[in-house]
Amino acid sequence: MSVSSIGRLTALLAILFAAFAWTPSAIAKPFSQGLKTCQDCHRDEYKVWEGTKHFSSYRNVHKAKDAKKIAVAVGGKKNMKRNKDCVVCHYSSERKSAEAKPKIKTGPSCESCHGASSNWEPIHFDYGGKNVKREAETADHKSKRIADSKHAGLAWASMPYDLAVNCMKCHGLARPEISGEAFATMLGAGHPINQSFEIVLFSQGKMSHWLQKRSAAQLARLFVAGQAAKLVSATDASASAGADQQYKAAQMKRAEDAKAALKSVPQASALIASPSDANAREMMDAIGAGDLSGAVGGLLPCAGPDKENLRQC
Ligand code: HEC
Ligand code: HEC
Ligand code: HEC
Ligand code: HEC
Repeated sequence: MSVSSIGRLTALLAILFAAFAWTPSAIAKPFSQGLKTCQDCHRDEYKVWEGTKHFSSYRNVHKAKDAKKIAVAVGGKKNMKRNKDCVVCHYSSERKSAEAKPKIKTGPSCESCHGASSNWEPIHFDYGGKNVKREAETADHKSKRIADSKHAGLAWASMPYDLAVNCMKCHGLARPEISGEAFATMLGAGHPINQSFEIVLFSQGKMSHWLQKRSAAQLARLFVAGQAAKLVSATDASASAGADQQYKAAQMKRAEDAKAALKSVPQASALIASPSDANAREMMDAIGAGDLSGAVGGLLPCAGPDKENLRQC
């Protein structure tokens, strides 16, 4: 080996080592650890989840009418659990470590909505050391704990837009890692696109795993966050729809419905004019802790025929 190539090799190795040294574990790509990681500490939430379709679906959905037909239509495996185009929404994959192979054990679960937990799970309940109790946590530590776990991907209950974005990754037949063509094929083969999905209606009923009743202002903010997430998801999806008219029309309907629901929200005008994730987040910041129940209260499910299904009304 010539001197210059040894020199080059040394330089290359130096770059490689530096790259490793600069990769702190806090920014490692997050992965889902699975329900067992959450179950013991969050027993009550777990029990509620066990009573939902997100749980029971694991045993049933592949037996539903059209399941095999839809799976084959997109050109993948007949078995939904082995078809990557079905797995992303119908099941949650979990792994023991970043290198381990993902395993499918349940339907959509905690981390599907609250975020893959490998980076935030160890820090979100740490009040400042092993023996520090919640009451003894300093205010500085608390705000750092909340900010750090949020940065690492935890969607707290106080983050309605992030939670709504996660619902929309599955409810709406739109998701960046699946092409518009594949979705159009699924829709054509009979996959449902549930236009009635609305986050307040779908979260405050049987699914609700929180003790405190939400106030009218909280529900209104959740509703607005849900419409914003729907508008952004539908706009992106209709742009990727390609030539398929049925899929494009379904996504345009989602976008129009969301715009109509947001039109009485003064902070929503920029988002309606130009739907994007950045504009949605700006709108939520502008709303802050504001009360929009006057503006959208009449649209909330508690005001309509679905109220019997809602524990919170
Ligand atoms: C060792 C116990 C423990 C484990 C394990 C644990 N949690 Fe937690 N979790 C807590 C505690 C305690 C809190 C309350 C933190 C606080 O006081 O701010 C919490 C808070 C949360 C919150 C925020 C609640 C809010 O008020 O917004 C969510 C969401 C959550 N956990 C989800 C999970 C999920 C999902 C898992 C599994 C990946 C998990 N937790 C694992 C103890 C745990
Ligand atoms: C973008 C997320 C997403 C993808 C990808 C997806 N599904 Fe679904 N699927 C859903 C949702 C959400 C529902 C429930 C719709 C509703 O609200 O009624 C559903 C419902 C179904 C149903 C009806 C279930 C019933 O209870 O009647 C079948 C069957 C189904 N999906 C099969 C598939 C197959 C097969 C694939 C893979 C080719 C697939 N899905 C991919 C999100 C998805
Ligand atoms: C389908 C999505 C979804 C799933 C699955 C889910 N959550 Fe949640 N979770 C939410 C939403 C949405 C909220 C906040 C709703 C609100 O504030 O009105 C929430 C709130 C919470 C809170 C705050 C409770 C409080 O009293 O304020 C905790 C803790 C929590 N979830 C833990 C879990 C755990 C643990 C699991 C799994 C056993 C789980 N969640 C499964 C969507 C989900
Ligand atoms: C990982 C994907 C995924 C996420 C995230 C998700 N869901 Fe689901 N959800 C599904 C699928 C798939 C079904 C349909 C299961 C079936 O039909 O077998 C479903 C069904 C439901 C149902 C039952 C509907 C019925 O017809 O009985 C409710 C309610 C629901 N989801 C609410 C929510 C809410 C609210 C959120 C966000 C806070 C959310 N989901 C997030 C995938 C998801």
